[in-house]
Amino acid sequence: VAGCRVIHIKTIPTVNAGELSYFEATHEIPFDIKRIYYISKVPEGTRRGFHAHKELKQVLFCPYGRIQLVLENKNGREEIELSDPSIGVVIEECTWREMLWLQKDSVLCVAASDFYKTEDYIRDYDEFNEIVRKSHD
Ligand code: TYD
Repeated sequence: VAGCRVIHIKTIPTVNAGELSYFEATHEIPFDIKRIYYISKVPEGTRRGFHAHKELKQVLFCPYGRIQLVLENKNGREEIELSDPSIGVVIEECTWREMLWLQKDSVLCVAASDFYKTEDYIRDYDEFNEIVRKSHD
């Protein structure tokens, strides 16, 4: 998998109805979680993201709805659809991401390795490519 690693989030049916998903610090998540955030109330067809991070690592998951991820790093570019609450995607540093809301009100949750730091963002695609190319030399 080019831009990420797909993990299975433990998910169990609960007594009356529905499912419960959970994850804990495991070898599957290669960092300590310092921050959780989520993006909600997004209309269908919205595109977000368009950045990479210099250091930050994240796990992305979608507890409700359908979101397409486009991920790109030194290994290439790939698309993955998040529509299953029991699926998570581990995104390492220096990975460009774009997200497309395929369904209204889909929720994107993120568990991140660090606090919010503006200076960690790479918002320019050319700059991202330059950094990836340099790290490859
Ligand atoms: P941003 O990362 O720009 O979202 P996107 O690129 O997906 O549109 O974040 C939007 C705003 O929220 C920006 O002003 C920064 C702020 N923000 C925080 O204060 N803390 C956070 O953990 C995140 C993710 C964003």
